[in-house]
Amino acid sequence: MIRSVVRGYGAALPKRVVPNKELESIVETSDEWIVQRTGIRQRYIAGEGETTASLGEQAARAALENAGLTPDDIDLVLVATSTPDNTFPATAVNIQNRLGMTHGYAFDLQAVCSGFVYAVATADLHIRGGMAKRVLVIGAETFSRILDWKDRTTCVLFGDGAGALVLEGQESEGTIADRGVLTAHLRSDGTHKEKLYVDGGPSTTGTVGHLRMEGREVFKHAVGMITDVIEAAFAATDTTAEDLDWLVPHQANRRIIDGSAKKLGIPPEKVVVTVDLHGNTSAASIPLALSVAAGDGRIKQGDLVMLEAMGGGFTWGALLLRW
Ligand code: UT7
Repeated sequence: MIRSVVRGYGAALPKRVVPNKELESIVETSDEWIVQRTGIRQRYIAGEGETTASLGEQAARAALENAGLTPDDIDLVLVATSTPDNTFPATAVNIQNRLGMTHGYAFDLQAVCSGFVYAVATADLHIRGGMAKRVLVIGAETFSRILDWKDRTTCVLFGDGAGALVLEGQESEGTIADRGVLTAHLRSDGTHKEKLYVDGGPSTTGTVGHLRMEGREVFKHAVGMITDVIEAAFAATDTTAEDLDWLVPHQANRRIIDGSAKKLGIPPEKVVVTVDLHGNTSAASIPLALSVAAGDGRIKQGDLVMLEAMGGGFTWGALLLRW
């Protein structure tokens, strides 16, 4: 059978780093509160000329270089984002153009913080369905542009950035010893809409709007939803927490990450944590974390890696792959 194998990875961050201390002059908060409640120490904030598409392009170029490929080798550019450069055309088509590609196809996918898990699962279907041989899967966000900078309960939590993977269809044995995507489990439930949403949009207010979140309510659901969907991925592949080399979670809050890992029996040394460095970068957080952990040699070829995310919608999902 064909499996979608990770051939390259890359990431990009805005130039400006904003440590917690700097936020103390914007809203009534403290470095101590932010670190204790979230684990976040700093985030990167996009400046003039830095956009979701420019960061996505940089991450895509880094992933292509890592894979030893050029844009000519790519059939599909798939971008997970909730902060597109324009309402349309898709940021993916913008990035495709920036890469100098006029062949193939490109589209955006919107599942907020779960966007990257949804996008890798979707890319895998396009590869296994025979529509694309190689896919650039990008998670790119500039959440700083939809934050209410007067609301301390949300503005301290998020950051900007982008990450990318090159997935390639490769003939495989069809066992869980194969490299590539092994199983994906996606969920959504719109009854939770008002707990995490943006209060604007082209068809309602005609404005971009600002992010609104009842953090405590989201927190209450997060660990249960994440662990349920990871259990589904283990069950579908007849694997357990012990078989796992790495858990690469969506990076929203250190307490959610630790709570989920503990409930699943995954020891802390197998969990990749970058929320301290990047804050919550929504769809970009998993590919940023993958780039850090593959780049420093922790994630190696052949390792069993679980990706998981939960966010606005609610949407959530888990995906098991062998690196
Ligand atoms: O990526 C999508 C998914 N999103 C998430 O996973 C976010 C989930 N939620 C969370 O991570 C946490 O709920 C937060 C980090 C947002 C908040 O942590 P919490 O422990 O749930 O705190 P809380 O909302 O219960 O607030 C505790 C106190 C409140 O004061 P009172 O009412 O106890 O007097 C807040 O007003 O902390 C106050 N507070 C702050 N204080 C200083 C809220 N924000 C801040 C702040 N600085 N930035």
